[in-house]
Formats: sequence, structure tokens, C-alpha cells
Amino acid sequence: MRVGVLTGGGDCPGLNAVIRAVVRAGVAEHEMEFIGFRDGWRGPLEGDTMVLDVAAVRGILPRGGTILGSSRTNPMAESNTLDGKTGIERVKENLDSLGVDALVAIGGEDTLGVANKLSEAGGKVVGVPKTIDNDLGATDFTFGFDTAVNIAMEAIDRLHTTAESHHRALIVEVMGRSAGWIALHAGVAGGANVILIPEKPFDIEQVCQYVEHRFQTRYAPIVVVSEGAHPKTAGGAIADDKRDAFGHARLGGVAQMLADEIERRTGKEARCTVLGHIQRGGTPTAFDRVLATRFGVHAIRAVADGAFGSMVALRGTGIVKVPLAEATSELKLVPPDRYAEAEIFFG
Ligand code: F6P
Repeated sequence: MRVGVLTGGGDCPGLNAVIRAVVRAGVAEHEMEFIGFRDGWRGPLEGDTMVLDVAAVRGILPRGGTILGSSRTNPMAESNTLDGKTGIERVKENLDSLGVDALVAIGGEDTLGVANKLSEAGGKVVGVPKTIDNDLGATDFTFGFDTAVNIAMEAIDRLHTTAESHHRALIVEVMGRSAGWIALHAGVAGGANVILIPEKPFDIEQVCQYVEHRFQTRYAPIVVVSEGAHPKTAGGAIADDKRDAFGHARLGGVAQMLADEIERRTGKEARCTVLGHIQRGGTPTAFDRVLATRFGVHAIRAVADGAFGSMVALRGTGIVKVPLAEATSELKLVPPDRYAEAEIFFG
């Protein structure tokens, strides 16, 4: 069997561990051969490939990023139709002409949404869930999330000491477009004094009260905020007007807005730190390496079993298969009871 592999969307620590596991397990257990597609869906859309054999995946387990490259190319976007053919039809044609029997698509909501459409159109696809945001409904955890949380936690640990030296409030902006999992876990692990997430629009006056209270205890406040969080008075997250091929706006700026408001309302100095892509770069944690490796092994077993149109997922401690349609139908948001547990430590 000849199996194609692609990685799409925002990159994520552990992608290389999945690629390595897919290739090693496919060769060892099923004598498969592999072909790498470059830069997400751009690869099969344009027929851009690379060699993907055991030698190509040697030494990549601890490496961040993806040896295949990634992009947010969307074959379903209007601009990808040509000669009366849709992007999905072009992808199918290229897979056929390259003799690809099956495709392993590693990605988040958008990449797997395309995988699902390809599967509905008759393509043989198995999905692997990826996102540092941990917001895919069908799996308990995505790989990359644990690494991002640990990076953010370490940043919060460091910010506590400098905040205290200068008697400042420090606001840390972390990733999390629709779901506040990174903010919640990093904030709890780092002992943040306020955690703000997209699921729960905040009251700036209440945030200022927590900040004031923390100063009264003679410690400096640390506020962790998801990029997608917003005040009750705003309609949504702060975003610029650039859109990617899936229609997502670039988020950012909520930490600066909060720092300005806190200074204005409390008279205390407030500064912000935006962690940005630092959360996505570099080597994965042991947890993410193990999860990514297990996902890779089970994805190739799904291909060997002909379980197309499915995605591997973590349920409890076991790896299961779920329909791709289910995988992309619902985002996993932070439930109110999980937020309430963290709120006990605010202020
Ligand atoms: O992977 C999801 C995510 O991490 C979001 O939290 C964030 O909004 C987005 O990626 C940023 O992606 P990029 O840097 O590719 O624009």
C-alpha cells in the first residue's frame, strides 16, 4: 500500500513524532510505503511531494515543527477551483495519479474538515487530531497542548518574580481562539490570580478588584488571558481584519487592552507579555511524544483495517476511532464547573 501523509494548519509540537510513528509502524507492521505531501492541503492540491521513508524520519522524534511543512491552504476555497473542477476533485485526481491508496491527514478542525469532505467524496482518509488549543470535541486531549501549557506555565513562574520586584500587575496573553484550555491549565499550574477565557466574557471592574486585592496582600498579580477572551461589553475577541483561507481572523491585543484599563482604573502599573508562537515552537514534552506516537501507530492500523473516514482519538487512556464527521462537528469548550474550580484561587 502507498500511503500519503500531510500536516495542516498551525504547527504543533509532536507533529514529527506522529509522522515518525506512522512511517515506522507502516513499514514494520504492514510493509507500506509512504509519500509526504508538503505544506498541508497545498501538497495534494498541487501535487507537491517529498520522500518519506524510514531514513527521512530518523532523529525527528524530539524536533518541533513538521518536516512536511504546513499551511492553511483550503482546497474548498473559491480560489482553488480550476477548469470547472473543485479543489477536492483536484486533490483526488493528484492522489490517483501518484498512486496513493490512502491518506493520513494530521490537523485540527479545518484540516480535518477538508479530510471529511474528501472522505465524503470517496477519498480514503484517516485523521489524526492536532492542536495546541485542545479544542477538538471527539478526543480527550490533542498532542501539543501539554507542551504549550508547560511553556506558558514556565513563563508565568518567571513573571511572578519580576512582577513582585516591581510591584506591577503582569498580564500574560496565551493562545486559545475559541477555547480557554491553555489559559486554564497554565493559569492553575502557575498560580495565576485571574484567568480569563473566551467561554466566559469578563467584567473589567471585577478583574480590577482581583488585582487590587492581590496588591493588598503585598504580592503582585498575574492575569492570564486567552487571545480569544473578551469583556462582557464587547461583541467578540480583539482581531485584525486579515483572514486566513478558512475565514479565521488573527486574534491578539486583549492583554494590552487589559493592562491599559487596569492602569487607568487602579492607578497601579500594569504590563503585558504576549507568548504567541513560543507556545507552538520547540521540542514536545514526554506526554505529547507518547500521545503523538500512539496516534501515529493507531492511524496506520486504521489504514490497514480500511477504517477510512475515521479519526484516532484519546478516550480515557485508550486510543479509539471516531467518524471524521463527529471529530469536526463540535468544539470542546471549557465547561463552567472547570472554570469555577479555578475561580476559587482568584484575587
Ligand atoms: O492552532 C490554533 C492556534 O494556536 C490559535 O490559538 C491561534 O489563534 C492560531 O493558531 C494562530 O495561528 P497562526 O500563527 O498560524 O496564525
